[in-house]
Order: sequence, then structure tokens, then C-alpha cells
Amino acid sequence: MSMSSGGVSRREIFLKIALAFNGAVGVLLGVPVVRYLLSPVTRGRKPGYDSWISLGSINQFPSGETRLATYRNPVANVTDGETANIPCWVRNISNGKFQVFAINCAHLGCPVRWFPKSGLFMCPCHGGAYYADGSRASGPPERGLFEYRFKIVDGNLHIQAGEMPTPGPSALIQIKRLPCA
Ligand code: FES
Repeated sequence: MSMSSGGVSRREIFLKIALAFNGAVGVLLGVPVVRYLLSPVTRGRKPGYDSWISLGSINQFPSGETRLATYRNPVANVTDGETANIPCWVRNISNGKFQVFAINCAHLGCPVRWFPKSGLFMCPCHGGAYYADGSRASGPPERGLFEYRFKIVDGNLHIQAGEMPTPGPSALIQIKRLPCA
């Protein structure tokens, strides 16, 4: 066995180099794993997540009618183009009482359409139907339409648009149940 001048064998030197190399590779591989594990703590929400966005003057939503409105997604990227323009349904019930519905069906997300003569929102995909107040009427959806939170500021209707409405603590299950005979 060959020995270096300090009394350390070549094998021991190679072993130390290999261990150091393995350690360096382990650290390099570990960085993204640790970042991933800590991401819920370190990652902030995108700016605009809590944005309130104006849909315009309340005068463009006549009392007793439901109309389509569009807003620009506040968390969109510049490259999103037209896909960042989000439609929603605004229902003016009366006297400043509104409902603002997500356009997406609560079943699988197809855009629902308002039919004023029948007083129903209809989904073209699987026949889901909703009453004027967004509650479920029939079909596969298990709940009513999702609703945005809204407020009226200086005569303009604002919705909390950064967070798309989804089932959560604030989302009400709106299934109309017929009374038992
Ligand atoms: S997506 Fe609307 S009924 Fe299925």
C-alpha cells in the first residue's frame, strides 16, 4: 500500500474526496426539496389576490334583471390576453341588493347562460339548471352557482375578484329541497 508523505494512504484521500463530493451533491439536490417543503410558509400570494374590482356603475344593471359583466383577472399575466377577461352574471334583485355569480357551472365548470324568459341559468354541457337566485334547479350539479362577494362604492359595483369563488366556508350549499308530501 502506497503512503503519502503525511502517512495518509491514497485510498483514504480518494475516500475523503468521494465523501465531500457526495455531500456537495446531497446539498445541491436537497435545496429544491427543502424549498418545496417550505413553500407554503415562504411563498406569498400573488399581488391582486384580494383585489376588489369594479364592474362599473350600478346603473348598467337594471333592477329585476340579470346581465353579463366582464372583468380583468387581477392575477393574470401579461401574456394571458383575452383569457384573462372573466365574465360573470350580475343580478340586480332590487334596492341595491345584488347577486354576482361565477359563470362556471358548479358541476364541471362549463359557462352557464341566463334565459330570462324561463328564469333559469342553463348549462350547455350536461343539462344543469339553476334558478334566478343561483340555487340548483336540476341536473348533475350538486349545489348552486358560486357567488362573488360584492360591495357598492360611489355608485359602482365592486366584486372580490382575485379569489375565484369555490366551495369553502363562505360558500353556501344552495340545493332547493321540495317538502315531503
Ligand atoms: S358542467 Fe354544467 S352540468 Fe356538467
